[in-house]
Amino acid sequence: MAVITGASSGIGEATARALAAAGYRVALLARRVDRIDELAAEPGEGALAIEADVTDRDSLVAAAERVRTELGGTDVLVNNAGLMLLAPFSSGQRDDYRRMVETNLLGAITTTEVFLDQLRDGGGDLVNISSVAGRTARPTNGVYAATKWGINGWSESLRQELQPEVRVTVIEPGAVATELTSHITHDETREATEAFVEGLAIRPEDIADVIVFAVSRPRRMTLNEILVRPTEQAG
Ligand SMILES: NC(=O)c1ccc[n+]([C@@H]2O[C@H](COP(=O)([O-])OP(=O)(O)OC[C@H]3O[C@@H](n4cnc5c(N)ncnc54)[C@H](OP(=O)(O)O)[C@@H]3O)[C@@H](O)[C@H]2O)c1
Repeated sequence: MAVITGASSGIGEATARALAAAGYRVALLARRVDRIDELAAEPGEGALAIEADVTDRDSLVAAAERVRTELGGTDVLVNNAGLMLLAPFSSGQRDDYRRMVETNLLGAITTTEVFLDQLRDGGGDLVNISSVAGRTARPTNGVYAATKWGINGWSESLRQELQPEVRVTVIEPGAVATELTSHITHDETREATEAFVEGLAIRPEDIADVIVFAVSRPRRMTLNEILVRPTEQAG
């Protein structure tokens, strides 16, 4: 049984499909309930769509309760929900900063503490979606990179605390063609980022395949950190 946050589009949606195809029952968490309802209704999925906002702990507690009672518990948690609101650093973007920290970093932390008992029960996998921006930084992505560096540091600590009961895997994608860039609020940065991503991006299914590969390894081994760039991406 796998729980995926941000399952309504992009990497989360592709991961839900790939895990379902690999035989997992999946719980699809996101705010846009129409999109996860549609995905859950796809043939052969046996999926549960649950409206949940990773910045709202009560909604996560309610989701975890439904997962326990309706699907019997969680073997895999994929912390995927995220925002990448790039722009030159300025006070004008301060709302973006709060949203990214609350969603990308605190959202993943909160989801994990809420689901941890289920993951521990019988041995599980925690998969945290970081980014190339979790290892490097460049102009306009400072706060986004801070959230992903945060994910990496937190995951390394959890690896040492939780393994071998819960395996911890960090995935660091480069450019992937999703709607992530469309939410950038700074027009000039959005246009430049969309042009960059369009030129070389890999597909969300490429990342989904890597996630399925990681969680399907024998329990004696763990792929703790996986960096996946488009072949054409330099930085
Ligand atoms: N695309 C890339 O190039 C790339 C590269 C490296 C890392 N990543 C990471 O991959 C992850 C997925 O991004 P994506 O590219 O697939 O983008 P996406 O298509 O925009 O998907 C983002 C997902 O996050 C969900 N989400 C956002 N805020 C949420 C909240 N408060 N509560 C619950 N769900 C929330 C969205 O669902 P709702 O709006 O329905 O809630 C959506 O399903 C992110 O963590 C991103 O940083 C992406």
